[in-house]
Amino acid sequence: MSLKRKDLLSIASLSAEEIRLILETAESFKEVSGREIKKVPALRGKTVVNLFFEPSTRTRTSFELAAKRLSADVINFVPSSSSVTKGESLIDTARNIEAMRADMIVLRHPAAGSAETLAATVRASVINGGDGWHEHPTQALLDLFTIQEKKRTIQGLRVAIVGDLAHSRVARSNIQALTKLGAEVRAVGPPTMMPVGLERLGVRVTYRMDEGIRGADVIMMLRLQIERQGRALFPSLREYATLYGLNADRLKLAEAGALVMHPGPINRGVEIASDVADSVSSVILEQVTNGVAVRMGVLYLLSGAAA
Ligand code: CP
Repeated sequence: MSLKRKDLLSIASLSAEEIRLILETAESFKEVSGREIKKVPALRGKTVVNLFFEPSTRTRTSFELAAKRLSADVINFVPSSSSVTKGESLIDTARNIEAMRADMIVLRHPAAGSAETLAATVRASVINGGDGWHEHPTQALLDLFTIQEKKRTIQGLRVAIVGDLAHSRVARSNIQALTKLGAEVRAVGPPTMMPVGLERLGVRVTYRMDEGIRGADVIMMLRLQIERQGRALFPSLREYATLYGLNADRLKLAEAGALVMHPGPINRGVEIASDVADSVSSVILEQVTNGVAVRMGVLYLLSGAAA
């Protein structure tokens, strides 16, 4: 089976079957990163452009590594040293990149819907590397991959997503992905950071941390998206940490062997205590490792190489 689509724009647009295909393909690529020579020729001759209009450590680096491990040529476009500073638009920038025969564009942009707009404009495959508050599909896919690796299945797991859900594209993508694969999702956070209508997606909403993480198999902590909030949604970081931070005592409320996850970057001492982030329960760095395999799978499937 192949992924019969040009672009990967959202989890909402993927079927459960397509999600499973990406996870299976990533599984077959994970072994490549453990080799001494971490390279296969699957995308030889293809060109991947990372077009990042927002800062990134994990997503940009792992897309670059994923493309290079598949033997593609990779260009990292840096807006601050490009003609974007002279007023060139996203679409014109992308059209010019495509004119140089780029095959795939990974876009991170502050505007929700930007990846969809770009995909409708260019012939190259577009992969959404995070668009505003909207979605971050490859983050959710690597999160699913990590959970499945540890717990064997997603079906029936109780997953608590904790924090600033309102501004989190990671939460939006994960809610879609987890519910499609049959997990029971709980959204936990202050009312000011809770989007309306989550119940319609089959999510249980609670404003009480202890209730939300009791008996959870997976606790997914979110970063406070202060840069997107625009106004204070909580009296102080100290109060936020007291009410919604994950510490060692709170972790005891979860199921034995519960996984602690975080998409990064983490704010130690705010949403997660340092000892919990570095504990045996934490799979935060394994998420990062798996991100390369998942992005290799996505690039491969979208390249048409699997058809
Ligand atoms: N998780 C994530 O998207 O991290 P970066 O912002 O560093 O890419």
